[in-house]
Amino acid sequence: MPRNATLDAALDDARRDYAARNPASRARHERACASMPGGNTRSVLYYDPFPLGFARGEGARLWDLDGHAYTDLLGEFTAGVAGHSHPAIRRAVTEAMANGISLGGHNQYEPRFAELVCERFPAMQRLRFTNSGTEANLLAISLAVATTVRPKVMVFQGGYHGSVFVFSGGPNINVPFDFVVAPYNDTEATLALIAAHGDTLAAVILEPMLGGGGCIAATPEFLRALRSATERHGALLIFDEVMTSRLAPHGLGAAMGVTPDLMTLGKYVGGGMSFGAFGGRADLIDRFDPSRPGALPHAGTFNNNVLTMAAGIAALTEVYPASATLALSAYGERLRLRLNALAEGAGVPMRFTGIGSLLAVHMLPEAPRTPAQAALGNAAARDLFFFDMLRAGFWLARRGMMALSLPLTEADADAFAEAVGEFISVRGHLLH
Ligand SMILES: Cc1ncc(COP(=O)(O)O)c(C=O)c1O
Repeated sequence: MPRNATLDAALDDARRDYAARNPASRARHERACASMPGGNTRSVLYYDPFPLGFARGEGARLWDLDGHAYTDLLGEFTAGVAGHSHPAIRRAVTEAMANGISLGGHNQYEPRFAELVCERFPAMQRLRFTNSGTEANLLAISLAVATTVRPKVMVFQGGYHGSVFVFSGGPNINVPFDFVVAPYNDTEATLALIAAHGDTLAAVILEPMLGGGGCIAATPEFLRALRSATERHGALLIFDEVMTSRLAPHGLGAAMGVTPDLMTLGKYVGGGMSFGAFGGRADLIDRFDPSRPGALPHAGTFNNNVLTMAAGIAALTEVYPASATLALSAYGERLRLRLNALAEGAGVPMRFTGIGSLLAVHMLPEAPRTPAQAALGNAAARDLFFFDMLRAGFWLARRGMMALSLPLTEADADAFAEAVGEFISVRGHLLH
């Protein structure tokens, strides 16, 4: 890493170096630009000057189109907890494929997978499957509006519940629910808003830890206060555990001792295939029971697709059973403490937030406890960190998020801590 005089100069150099090292990724990007806007079909993956294209992955390693190898610290934004091409997932998918993949009817996998998910997450007395976390949240919120016969939905600043549920303050194409946006982790202000909207509020939806919003955990008091206020006002409490369910044996809400009325899942639970699920109180989910008169409809060609069902069974039994959450969370806790000790010891404004295997870097002197605090972080410094980590062979989200996966080793943690230490010593003077 060169020693630049200013942050802007360092970032320009890092981008130039990146572009020079990755001609095949640039060519892939230019080709994609002809048929997709900005060459992109998934906005989060874009960054300037062009994003990396990957050729393959194996375990906790990735190789880009120019042949550089990376330690994968991103784990497909939490969907890739198993690592790449885990043998149990491969076996499950291959076996399922051998018997036909689009049967146009029920298959043998669905009941087993549903039982496993309900056992694992007791807040889900019953569930239904979808194809994505976005869809799971769409259905959960729609169910809340339909069953309470109320129009409003409370969400939180910095929250993310899928492509049409973006509450980070920028442009969005959110679904037209009547949203009330509350400040995350601010119990007093949130309770006042709940009281003000009282009997018009169908649901309060939140992540027990903001994932995309910077790995900022809710305090248990905040969750408990939401639980009792929603009960008092007759609104449903929905936990979006698309990311956080992997952090503890029965999900993060359960670890914090709070049971929601509805809960949504996605990502790793489907073993890396397209997946979503919403579930919760039986009296609510049973409204979809098609054998009942007046049942609510819920369709989806791929809701029960055999690849997801088969991969999900393998994921929850062989790859990432409830007990495995503890070791992975402990690994992540140790790494985060170590990284924060490096930054604190050097006196640089850089902190790693999160719980267990989910981490995010913030270029701030203190770990932020709210999205408003997180927004004050130095974005250029975080970009520099991203490009420097790529150069050192570590793949993470440009916004600084990491989701650690099972095949990562102690040696990987040591190597990453060393790379972060090098960043701090060479770049630290630019971060103030
Ligand atoms: C908390 C949360 N909810 C919902 C979603 C949407 O899931 P999907 O991308 O499968 O639609 C995400 C995706 O990142 C998420 O982090």
